[in-house]
Amino acid sequence: MRTAVGWTGDAIEIIDQTLLPAQERVIRLQTADEVVEAIQRLAVRGAPAIGVTGALGVLLAGDDDAAIERIASARPTAVNLRWAVQRVLAAPDREAEALAILHEDIAACEAIGEFGRAELSDASRILTVCNTGRLATAGWGTALGVVYAKQQAGEPVEVFACETRPLLQGARLTAWELDDAGIPVTVLPDGAAPALLASGQIDAVIVGADRIAANGDTANKIGTYALAIAARHHEVPFYVAAPRSTLDPATPHGAVIEIEERDGSEVRSIAGLQESTRVWNPAFDVTPSSLITGLITDAGVLRAPFGPAIAGVVA
Ligand code: MRU
Repeated sequence: MRTAVGWTGDAIEIIDQTLLPAQERVIRLQTADEVVEAIQRLAVRGAPAIGVTGALGVLLAGDDDAAIERIASARPTAVNLRWAVQRVLAAPDREAEALAILHEDIAACEAIGEFGRAELSDASRILTVCNTGRLATAGWGTALGVVYAKQQAGEPVEVFACETRPLLQGARLTAWELDDAGIPVTVLPDGAAPALLASGQIDAVIVGADRIAANGDTANKIGTYALAIAARHHEVPFYVAAPRSTLDPATPHGAVIEIEERDGSEVRSIAGLQESTRVWNPAFDVTPSSLITGLITDAGVLRAPFGPAIAGVVA
């Protein structure tokens, strides 16, 4: 099975996710500017996957410091990107370090899957948002990694995927990859999630993360906060699954996380709106840690109080 990001020795290969599910096309990135463009137009996306792509992108940038900075700042919210670029820059053997980041992400996904499976042994009906699977990481995913671990263990599991407007990562990507894996998936409009939680059909919500602040506040795809509020109201456990590379102890709390605002055309094009129609299009929102039941990391499941729990697992 094709992975989201690979290295050929002189180029990065990614699946162009803007074309899915209609077309599965692999494209080669051979320059730093191609890397920046691919990250910005979401041809490659998901915090761990853009971290790995950024790490490999440094190899293409060579000694061009300005190009390296353009890669590190291609998208501002996922901390994995700058973290990975800086790690490669500081290493004596850059290629070995970038490949280590890729392989560590695969291992982190497996650990998250196993910890999540043990934590959620009684949960089979999972609600999620965006895409957190093999398209979003170098491995089998974070929140969807838990789902794949359940499938691999022969446990019952089915997924309810919020469509994730405006770019439809849930409808286009999560449904595609779960179909491919033979896991039952039901797509719902984002606004239907509270009603689904109210109906009693969901055992747990599991989402990914782009950045987790020192106190556990979590930035993730827009709509995550609404899911967390609705899950709390209906007493459904709400988990965030992420590798330690998504923990950002330098950011004290969620209010200071930079949230990427994307072009209004992404929203206007859905409804055929005029160029003059004003749009607010934040790519992410912040869920306060008080709404989070647990953080499923590759170092285990962290629980409140999250501050000391996070401090205990970061290097
Ligand atoms: O804008 P995207 O598609 O890059 O947003 C991705 C998400 O919000 C994911 O939930 C997050 O990056 C975790 S992916 C394992």
